[in-house]
Amino acid sequence: MAPRFLTGFRDEHRALWGHHPVRIRHSLADTGLFTDEALAELIDAYPRDNYDLLHMAAQGTGNLADWREGDLGGIDGATALQTIFDGRLWINLRRVHEADSRYARLLDDIFAELAELVPGFSTFKHNLGILISSPGAQVYYHADVPGQSLWHLRGRKRVYVYPNHAPFLPEDQIERIVLSYTEAEIDYEPWFDDYAQVFELEEGEMLNWPLNAPHRVENLDTICVSVTTEHWTRDIRNSYAVRYANGLLRNQLGIRPPPPDIRGTRFWLRAALAAGVKKSGLLKRYQADKRIEWQLDPDTPSGVRPITPFVL
Ligand SMILES: [Fe+2]
Repeated sequence: MAPRFLTGFRDEHRALWGHHPVRIRHSLADTGLFTDEALAELIDAYPRDNYDLLHMAAQGTGNLADWREGDLGGIDGATALQTIFDGRLWINLRRVHEADSRYARLLDDIFAELAELVPGFSTFKHNLGILISSPGAQVYYHADVPGQSLWHLRGRKRVYVYPNHAPFLPEDQIERIVLSYTEAEIDYEPWFDDYAQVFELEEGEMLNWPLNAPHRVENLDTICVSVTTEHWTRDIRNSYAVRYANGLLRNQLGIRPPPPDIRGTRFWLRAALAAGVKKSGLLKRYQADKRIEWQLDPDTPSGVRPITPFVL
């Protein structure tokens, strides 16, 4: 019998899953994989290509203010962790299941349990990330391409989840994310918040939201540790392909594309176009670079030491 993490799962969650944000109690912390010691050990050997380290402005400032990428600079995991806890910083360890087999097993167990709990939830290309951040840190308004859940483990954070359609998520902007022309950022207006669902997540609560729903996160006055899991389904893959093709039509050919349906002949033509162009690598020159502008430094008050920027 696989471990059961979704201790608060109720019948209503089965009906809501994927259609409406749901908050469910979980027991991921019992694995012992998210203590300071475990996180420091992970950071010690983490591959450069698989983490994002970010600095940002204080909450309540303009969208994307001071959102600048940094580098761990080879400092040891325990010091890096403490420097993040003391600053206004956020690290995203991506693809943790590839770095350590214990997290790979956890990821398999999570999706095995979800497949049992939610009929028809047939997923592939699973991914596990760990987010570690300072008290008062924030992640600005953005949308992600795969299906996602956020499993909160330590501290308290406020998550704003917005409807996954215009004006909160304009088609041309999700297309640009799918094409990797931008990373995940989309235009934000403060009045969007009036239409958001807001969750103050406590330790041991997870949140799942509808595909591509824009969201932003504010830590409360605590350090925060969370896991993100990502997944793909056949529908998510088809929606990716159609938006890829629509983005090509709009950006490269100046054609206003049809709606992003994922059925019928129009869909298959666009899926073929997307597959062909993606394979060709033709879009590489339009895609966003990852520019590193600072290095983590425990001896500065902010933990941030500017460096000569370089592209990763
Ligand atoms: Fe996100």
